[in-house]
Amino acid sequence: MTPQWNDLASELLQRFGDETRYAIPILQAIQTEQGYIPIPLLEAIASKAQHLQANQLYGVATFYSQFTFTPKGKHTIKVCMGTACFVKGAQQIVDAFKSALSIEIGETTPDKLFTLQTVACLGCCSLAPAVMIDGHVHGQVTQESVAALLKAKGFNL
Ligand code: FES
Repeated sequence: MTPQWNDLASELLQRFGDETRYAIPILQAIQTEQGYIPIPLLEAIASKAQHLQANQLYGVATFYSQFTFTPKGKHTIKVCMGTACFVKGAQQIVDAFKSALSIEIGETTPDKLFTLQTVACLGCCSLAPAVMIDGHVHGQVTQESVAALLKAKGFNL
């Protein structure tokens, strides 16, 4: 276990306390500050805490979709694969992002700039095919506009 996780575990326990009811606030702080939930950090917390156990923290983190165990990039791209978007070519859009970024769905680029995800429906089917980048929806996305969307976020093609 690295000293970094040990120090952070102590700091989190000091900040929130060592009760089971603080499991979610602690996980939320980790997710916000680290961008993901590092397993070694959960183990460090459990080794220092009296009431919080690693499997309990892990269980809570796997239950809620807001938590992720893999590092996320600075920008999150969510390509809609719902029915309306799918029939309008969402597969080609996701393929264009995969090819431009050289990553698969669920992965983050090595420079930690982009994470690529797919979602079932963004709730704006009239804009199909739709993509959400950092919470903003882009509609009628084409394979050609993928490059422009990435460039606007600092990606050099
Ligand atoms: S199916 Fe894509 S926004 Fe609804």
